[in-house]
Amino acid sequence: MARIPAFSALSVAALLAAAPAIAAPEGADPSLVEKGRYLATAGDCTSCHNNPKTGNPFSGGYGVGSPIGMIYGPNITPSAKTGIGSWTLDEFSNAVRKGRGRGGHYLYPAMPYTAFSGISDADTRALYSYFMLGVPAAENEAPKTELAFPFNIRPLMMGWDLLFGASGGKPAAQAPESGVARGKYLVDTLAHCSTCHTPRGMLMEEKTGSFLAGAQLGQWKAPNITSDPVSGIGKWSEDDLFRYLKTGYVDGKGVAAGEMGLAVQNSFSKLTDGDIRSIAAYIKTVPPVNTGAKEPRSGWSKSAPLPVDKLESPLEQKDYKAFITVSNMSGAQIYEGACATCHGYDGRGTPDRVMPSLVGSSAVGSADPANLVMTITDGVSRTVHGNHVLMPVFKTKLNTSEIAKVADYVATAFGDPSHRVTEGDVQRVYGGGREVSWLIANAAALTWAGLAVVVMAIIGLFVAWRRKA
Ligand code: HEC
Ligand code: HEC
Ligand code: HEC
Repeated sequence: MARIPAFSALSVAALLAAAPAIAAPEGADPSLVEKGRYLATAGDCTSCHNNPKTGNPFSGGYGVGSPIGMIYGPNITPSAKTGIGSWTLDEFSNAVRKGRGRGGHYLYPAMPYTAFSGISDADTRALYSYFMLGVPAAENEAPKTELAFPFNIRPLMMGWDLLFGASGGKPAAQAPESGVARGKYLVDTLAHCSTCHTPRGMLMEEKTGSFLAGAQLGQWKAPNITSDPVSGIGKWSEDDLFRYLKTGYVDGKGVAAGEMGLAVQNSFSKLTDGDIRSIAAYIKTVPPVNTGAKEPRSGWSKSAPLPVDKLESPLEQKDYKAFITVSNMSGAQIYEGACATCHGYDGRGTPDRVMPSLVGSSAVGSADPANLVMTITDGVSRTVHGNHVLMPVFKTKLNTSEIAKVADYVATAFGDPSHRVTEGDVQRVYGGGREVSWLIANAAALTWAGLAVVVMAIIGLFVAWRRKA
């Protein structure tokens, strides 16, 4: 990934001196730019505004998948031509906190302005200073977002914004500096945890009363992280949460893969210890929401591997050719061949825990097999504090039936023996997609039907008027 040159007070001073034409935001000073850089990390702006072709963190082009289609993150470098170089602070603030583009058009909530609505004025100014002065301009025309009817009509967002556009609340008068209040401010606004972890209603709005109670996220599941001891993470200590957000891994509890792995890598792990502790402290206070789990997903302590000598040796099979294919192996045999070198025959990982224990892990113990299946399918690749954690991708090596067999073995031997995983489950997980409500799925037909009703009414009125005339 292309890196932005490390900020230095000198470079900003030089920039300001050398290029007086650049509209320096009022009160721009190096410490403000540095503060903005930190807030941009907390807001993980790069995760959707990067350029997947060049690796530039902010020059745009990344596609955010959504139930209504692909929405592209624009170029937010200070390029005057293809970026936001000529935007005023107000225009920037309207985009980030109100979801209104330059000129007032409605942005789609794939941009988390719903959460960013609560960012304080001072923090917004710091972010603006950073994007104007701390980020090098880069030319890139991000692809145009073209959604299907009726979602291509941006003004449709007007009503939605009125109802749901500010789940992050009104702009904080002042961002709290420490403690649980600081954690709440970060979670509700910049860290936008709820955009992934809160379930959505009929209109894709975040369901009130179910804050952080877990949601489908593409093929993955962002679990219930409320303080409920069974459905949520009430049994995780504040220290567990701190370690999870800082490193992406808590031994015997959970691993951050998929989008959480990216969020930990690019954002949470880079926050100050004080801010991570504040977030952990606040998450512990989130009201419990019981989503019906019978047992906590993490914390299973049982390990029931089949003894090696009981594993039916493939070599005993009569047809030598048949055993060459993995498809004839049992889940336990696939585990032994493909996983045990790292995770241990007993699923407890290496003694130094460089290779993690599967016993106790939430992906393994969850009644919903999504994250177990997806971890095996996509592997894990996360670089945190210079340490690259890697589990290989298995989708290129195992087919759905083989992934189902090994997932079934792992889930039942190291988690809950009643959590069987079938090939149908794997296919259902791959079908994934955010839960799309009936309203969203039928929006085009409903809009046409609505239009038809209006047109009929107009024709009706016209006919009535003609009769009178
Ligand atoms: C989860 C993905 C995501 C994150 C995180 C995100 N954005 Fe965005 N942003 C988008 C998308 C998608 C759009 C375009 C929306 C549209 O086309 O309606 C956008 C639009 C914008 C725009 C308007 C640009 C234009 O040309 O219209 C600005 C400014 C912006 N984002 C700034 C930020 C900043 C600053 C951050 C971090 C604090 C951030 N974004 C974090 C996805 C994201
Ligand atoms: C981009 C989407 C996204 C965002 C933003 C996000 N999460 Fe997650 N989170 C996930 C997904 C997906 C998982 C499941 C990861 C896995 O199993 O490998 C997860 C897992 C977790 C877990 C582990 C739960 C368990 O039982 O294993 C915790 C704790 C967590 N997230 C906390 C947070 C907090 C706190 C925030 C905000 C500071 C946050 N997340 C923001 C998507 C997200
Ligand atoms: C080369 C070593 C290696 C192999 C082989 C391997 N893994 Fe992993 N696995 C890892 C690493 C490393 C992690 C992530 C550790 C971290 O995040 O710190 C991981 C994570 C996981 C997790 C996530 C646990 C959680 O809490 O979310 C599961 C489940 C898993 N592996 C299952 C498997 C299965 C099943 C196989 C065989 C099909 C397998 N692994 C093969 C190294 C490996």
